[in-house]
Amino acid sequence: MKVLFVTSEAFPLLKTGGLGDVAGALPAALNALGENARILMPAYPQALEMARDKRPGVALGMPLGVGEVRLIEAKMPDGKTPVWLVDCPNVCRRDGNPYTQQDGRDWPDNYLRFALLSHVAAQLAMPGNPTGWVPDIVHCNDWQSGLAPAYLHFWPGSRAKTVFTIHNLQYLGMFPPWVMEQIDLPGEAYGMDGVEFHGQVSFLKAGIFYGDAITAVSPTYAHEIMSPALGNGLDGLLRHRGHAVHGILNGIDDEVWNPATDPLIEHPYSTADMSGKASNKVALQRELGLPEAPDAPLFCVVSRLTWQKGIDLIADGAERLERLGVQIAVLGTGEQHLHDMLRSLAETHPNIAVRIGYDETLAHRMVAGSDVLLMPSRFEPCGLTQMYAMRYGTLPLVYRTGGLADTVTDCADIHAGTGFVFDKLDADTLIHGAERAVALYHSPDSWQKARVNAMTRDWSWAHAAKDYVKLYQGLLKAGA
Ligand code: ADP
Ligand code: GLC
Repeated sequence: MKVLFVTSEAFPLLKTGGLGDVAGALPAALNALGENARILMPAYPQALEMARDKRPGVALGMPLGVGEVRLIEAKMPDGKTPVWLVDCPNVCRRDGNPYTQQDGRDWPDNYLRFALLSHVAAQLAMPGNPTGWVPDIVHCNDWQSGLAPAYLHFWPGSRAKTVFTIHNLQYLGMFPPWVMEQIDLPGEAYGMDGVEFHGQVSFLKAGIFYGDAITAVSPTYAHEIMSPALGNGLDGLLRHRGHAVHGILNGIDDEVWNPATDPLIEHPYSTADMSGKASNKVALQRELGLPEAPDAPLFCVVSRLTWQKGIDLIADGAERLERLGVQIAVLGTGEQHLHDMLRSLAETHPNIAVRIGYDETLAHRMVAGSDVLLMPSRFEPCGLTQMYAMRYGTLPLVYRTGGLADTVTDCADIHAGTGFVFDKLDADTLIHGAERAVALYHSPDSWQKARVNAMTRDWSWAHAAKDYVKLYQGLLKAGA
């Protein structure tokens, strides 16, 4: 099957979070199963710089009137997965974060930038498109490509089937109603049965409403988003479309995240010999200016710093964590008030180190050198960081939600435990979980057993890729 994987980011060309990791790995996993997947993403300067074997592809005219659009044909840096970069200098050639300006505010023309990505995806999905490569499936991801299923719904002629994957329902892709005049959708699309949402246009709702199938990135999250608590106002629509909604758990790229071969960590290690992990811990303590204490349990956070991630709970519990003898290392970037709060904690607590910023190398070192990953997310569609942590023998301490619930087995199960799961979202319950983690940490045999459990679970993409293939096949069969 020919699969066009439409995304606003893909590691290593450009990544701000888990979507980038998924887009960097899933198309490759589909191709490993014999499918024919290629990535479609905007030609950001970083992406143009990193992509291999670039060749100017076809011209696509001036869709949406934003200027000349060209496809650049290229390969991902591994030289394998094909990628099409949508080049429209007026809206793509901007450095830095793909969604926001330097001051953190959204680019004012985001509606046009991502309507364009969706429009190009839809154009390429039509028979007779100028590339000669016509996908069977257009696989869209989050609001940035949510309009593609809408275009395909309204355009006449046979067309590819669409899958819309929800990585995070919190980002609605909402714009004022006047954007309807510029995004090339018919007026009738602006209604309850369409893209309208609370008097605005939601690109996310478009994907959910018009997608032939909808997936969420874990089974638990697929269930949760059909309830008012986590449905973000779209739970009714999702229940209505319930027969088309599927939960498929993400995998991880186990070559990029492999403690035995990771070039970004100083001391590689494996279950056969864990001594490298202890050396990484001391190296990390040194790098972050923490006391070099090999026996102090080191907890880390590698995260976007947003409300979703429950960072404030960690701050509320910091004193009590200190009394437990825990060291805390935080790497993240996001909301300014969380930066300020974390920085001030680090200034007053010698056992807390904070690095504000985005740093791929340090992320690997933190995951490798720590004992516990702290991830008290209020909600978590899937979460990849806890899977990376487990693969590195760093036991996650998580709230039971979404993909965290689906991936972490509590160490109350002495045979299969891989981490610590708590059931109530407050600092007291978090601390109780931390106490259990510290107790197990001081019991070396049990700790090692849990680490081996975590490191030997299969987190690879092979399973999810097979599930997506089945889903695509089902859609094509139904449409035949
Ligand atoms: P989300 O997509 O909600 O941010 P995930 O756990 O799915 O959460 O994925 C987060 C990804 O982003 C992981 O690869 C993680 O290592 C990475 N990451 C998050 N914050 C940073 C940071 N400050 N520096 C480097 N990598 C980060
Ligand atoms: C989103 C979610 C995260 C998920 C990632 C990849 O950013 O917040 O839970 O792992 O997408 O699907």
